[in-house]
Amino acid sequence: MKTITIRRPDDWHLHLRDGAVLEGVIGDTSRHFARAIIMPNLVPPVVTTADAQAYRQRIMAALPQGHRFEPLMTLYLTETTSADDVEEGKRSGLISAVKLYPAGATTNSHGGVRDLDKVMPVLERMAAIGLPLCVHGEVTTPEVDIFDREAVFIETVLDPLRRRLPDLKVTMEHVTTKDGIDYIKAADRNLAGTITTHHLIINRNAILVGGIRPHYYCLPVAKREHHRLALRAAATSGDGRFFLGTDSAPHVDELKECGCGCAGIYTSLNTMSCLAHVFEQENALDRLEAFASLNGPSWYGLAPNEETITLSRQQEPVQFPARRDTAAGPVTVFDPMFPLHWTVLDK
Ligand code: NCD
Ligand code: ZN
Repeated sequence: MKTITIRRPDDWHLHLRDGAVLEGVIGDTSRHFARAIIMPNLVPPVVTTADAQAYRQRIMAALPQGHRFEPLMTLYLTETTSADDVEEGKRSGLISAVKLYPAGATTNSHGGVRDLDKVMPVLERMAAIGLPLCVHGEVTTPEVDIFDREAVFIETVLDPLRRRLPDLKVTMEHVTTKDGIDYIKAADRNLAGTITTHHLIINRNAILVGGIRPHYYCLPVAKREHHRLALRAAATSGDGRFFLGTDSAPHVDELKECGCGCAGIYTSLNTMSCLAHVFEQENALDRLEAFASLNGPSWYGLAPNEETITLSRQQEPVQFPARRDTAAGPVTVFDPMFPLHWTVLDK
């Protein structure tokens, strides 16, 4: 039996939702992951330190018995966010990052930022106190093709912002293009990127070939094959600027399987198996730990986890449930479209 033991991983970009969905999904993350950066795009969003404190309590209350898990809270940046509140959140140890959603970019982002000038005082404060900005890197201009929105964001928003505020630490989240990978590699400091599990596995054909498949639709949308290959090369390279952010984003099936389905893919349940498969295919199992367990903590100034997990490769495919049932309805689990053989062993 082939096994690999790595430090316990963390998820540097996760949607846990609230209420019944939170209760239904959180165990899938806390079973394997020690910490996660928690996205603030609830309805209404997590805007203030007080909102984040209350949300953190709801997360901890939903945690299955016996699981240990540290939610790393973020604030949803708006044009009225107070720099003092952000600083207070960081000083108290509650807030790990602030999230920039361009208005209208994705699920629940209508309250996002329209005019970057309006948030400059907050960004300047963040640069001064060393608090990272997590960015959803897509423009929302209707004229820009959805497949080009990341590349145009880098050129017209991210690069000018980084030139204006070189001391601001920026995490470019869920990078989906070679353009994004190249841009991160070219930066000399203060820029890193998270990569999702599913973008290492699917390209845009998964969504559109042979019928429209809503469970492969997410934002940023999966791109062409050469972009997927660039993501795989970066993730498996060991380069400290790239690390795992699953962007696991549960929506109940009825909100995805309809005339205007929500964006989001639910991967928490089988992410580690999928990643082991990908890294094995790339002959890079020895770099899985860097991607999932070491590079992220280093970027966020935290120690890696002391605990370990062991994955083993079994002959027979591992059977994962097709859906995670929640009291709000079933949530379809990401199907990588190949059999998975790696499993995380129970302690
Ligand atoms: C996310 C969600 O559903 O909250 N959806 C997604 O497709 N990733 C929002 C986001 O991270 O863009
Ligand atoms: Zn997300």
